[in-house]
Amino acid sequence: MRAPTSILVLALLAGTASAGDIAAGRAKAGAACAVCHGPNGLSMQPNVPHLAGQPEIYLVEQLRNYRSGKRAHEVMSVIAKPLTDTEIDNLAAWYAAMQLSVQLP
Ligand code: HEC
Repeated sequence: MRAPTSILVLALLAGTASAGDIAAGRAKAGAACAVCHGPNGLSMQPNVPHLAGQPEIYLVEQLRNYRSGKRAHEVMSVIAKPLTDTEIDNLAAWYAAMQLSVQLP
């Protein structure tokens, strides 16, 4: 009885670590997002936010909000509209997996 329970718990924990497929997210982002958000998730345009290193849960929520209309933006609402749940998970996993180093002023 004990062994199967702990295996299930481990599987659930592993599942929460990252819902998305990083490699698939990278491929999708390179074609659809990098032009604005940068190939490394760091935007080079002042009116576009950085995505590198943002928490996966935050990125998923924002993309779902753009898609549903809960968060509105003339560009991102159009871009998020056709994304599937899987694509959103993959994109979020890719940007969240990037590691930043910060230099304080
Ligand atoms: C044409 C330029 C452009 C493209 C292409 C683009 N974005 Fe954006 N993105 C923006 C801008 C501008 C904002 C800021 C919108 C706002 O103020 O709500 C933004 C915001 C976001 C945010 C919210 C960030 C935050 O800090 O809350 C996410 C997440 C995001 N984009 C993901 C993506 C993904 C994933 C793709 C590719 C599927 C993508 N974007 C493609 C311009 C772009």
